[in-house]
Amino acid sequence: MKVVRFSWRDFRNLPSGELLPGAEENVIYGNNAQGKTNLLEGMWLFTGERSFRGAKDPELVRRGQESAELRLDFTADGRDQTAKITVLGGRRSAELNGVKKRSCAAMIGEFRAAVFSPEHLSLLTGGPAQRRAFVDAALCQIRPSYAALFAEYSRSLAQRNALLKDIPQCADLLDTLDVWDTRLVQFGEKIMRGRTAYLEKLSPRAAAFYEGMCGGRETLSLRYEKSAPNFAEALREARKNDIFTGHTGVGPHRDDISAEISGLDARAYGSQGQKRSAVIAMKLAEAEMLESATGETPVIFLDDVLSELDAERRDYLLNRLRKFQVFITCCEPDAVCVEGGKMFHVKNGVPDAGAAT
Ligand SMILES: Nc1ncnc2c1ncn2[C@@H]1O[C@H](COP(=O)(O)OP(=O)(O)OP(=O)(O)O)[C@@H](O)[C@H]1O
Ligand SMILES: [Mg+2]
Repeated sequence: MKVVRFSWRDFRNLPSGELLPGAEENVIYGNNAQGKTNLLEGMWLFTGERSFRGAKDPELVRRGQESAELRLDFTADGRDQTAKITVLGGRRSAELNGVKKRSCAAMIGEFRAAVFSPEHLSLLTGGPAQRRAFVDAALCQIRPSYAALFAEYSRSLAQRNALLKDIPQCADLLDTLDVWDTRLVQFGEKIMRGRTAYLEKLSPRAAAFYEGMCGGRETLSLRYEKSAPNFAEALREARKNDIFTGHTGVGPHRDDISAEISGLDARAYGSQGQKRSAVIAMKLAEAEMLESATGETPVIFLDDVLSELDAERRDYLLNRLRKFQVFITCCEPDAVCVEGGKMFHVKNGVPDAGAAT
């Protein structure tokens, strides 16, 4: 999958213009607040996912304007495709090859990409919920049927928790708890199996990217950590306590993903650069998983990754991810030594024409 042309009108601080990227590395550089991240965000929206900055739709329209338009020409499945996104009246709409889509989310699966922005560091610095969300989103991308499974599990969990809170007032309700326990175990075990299998495949891939970045001097290992090895049994054992606290204390909603660098917990012991490298490796591995599931290499967006990385790690990201089309932003072009590929200088929302390096 490759972006051939990206153009816009009145998107954030970008008035109107186009970007003609190269098939491999594309470096977008410039001072702070010039529109580098906005360019990545604009292209990312074609994945059908929400903005990786968590932006609301009205924020996407250039201040003082009524609407914004984005157009992406890309190749997928060996065919040329054209997608358009319009933000009007505070809402986004999309069309693909001239056909209007039900919603922007209906674009999911048409244009595939993986993104790393500094906020994604929370994958290691934040709580387990973010790590679970990472795996769950990846599973849904590969197999959309997982979305229904997660929804069923959440619904059963909410019902069970509501029941737990009512039981102290009405002991008769205790009998109905079994029904929800059965459902929770039925959906929960499927989720645990899916996540475990995904991590087993993701871990060696992430390890390979990580080793590439640090010249093989360190190792990265990821593992799915269950809050209980046997969910059904743990749920039975925790029942008394659950009734006391009013919520379900074990299950996939309490599980986590452990990340170890050379045998040490990355969250507790990792340096800034190690954590950053580990999250980037996880994101690249996610892209490779998507590739093996769909037969199509996703586009990679790396926003502001180069700071805190030493020359060797930077070189890996700039010059050795050859099979992907990569868009990478940075402030200082001096920090960048890219062999081949294109460089774009962005000033005041206007990127200059790409020049081969
Ligand atoms: N809806 C909007 N209308 C006009 N300007 C906007 C809008 N949304 C964001 N901006 C402006 O866009 C500018 C560029 O933002 P962007 O995040 O792309 O900068 P950047 O080049 O990535 O900078 P940095 O190096 O600091 O990350 C900011 O000054 C921001 O205020
Ligand atoms: Mg930025």
